[in-house]
Amino acid sequence: MNNGDVNRSRRRFLIGATSVVGGVGVVGAAVPFVASWNPSAKAEAAGAPVSVNISKLEPGQQITVSWRGKPVWVVKRTDEMLGHIKELSDTVKDPESVEGGMQPAYIEGPFRAVRPEIAVLVGICTHLGCVPSYRPEIAPDDLGEDWIGGFFCPCHGSRYDLAGRVYPSQPAPLNLEVPPHRFDDDVTLTVGLDPEAA
Ligand code: FES
Repeated sequence: MNNGDVNRSRRRFLIGATSVVGGVGVVGAAVPFVASWNPSAKAEAAGAPVSVNISKLEPGQQITVSWRGKPVWVVKRTDEMLGHIKELSDTVKDPESVEGGMQPAYIEGPFRAVRPEIAVLVGICTHLGCVPSYRPEIAPDDLGEDWIGGFFCPCHGSRYDLAGRVYPSQPAPLNLEVPPHRFDDDVTLTVGLDPEAA
């Protein structure tokens, strides 16, 4: 199998994984196992934390939960994706996310997450607030040969890597926001609480 074949089969896998929850880029349109964990609309509007069971999240899959009225993406990143994030640290605009207060102080390093394999990102473009698309494919026709997975904003074309770090010379000035988050146990992610919160 040559590199082209590998890339094509990988792309097929990722497209398959993404389509399991296709269309969840809309606030609140999460898969049933997510919805069952959501608090009431009133509590959510008040900023209550949102817990989600991630036991059924497949490698490469993205789900969206609603927290404080915002879409929050949860992506299970593969080792390959983590490798691509590391590679891109020499390319993205702000590799350590020091600008704009876009993540809690306890989040450090290129992966921008409490657990490297689980990305937790507010799905709102830092340019003018559109919701970017999850584009994990390798070199799709519309994004070009150099694309190795990330998030693409359809409004004005801003590009982010799979850690939500913006590429240079994009309309978006900052990396995507990482919300406070923690793991209550192996499979329960809570968005809106810090790891040390009681
Ligand atoms: S709102 Fe995303 S690029 Fe403008």
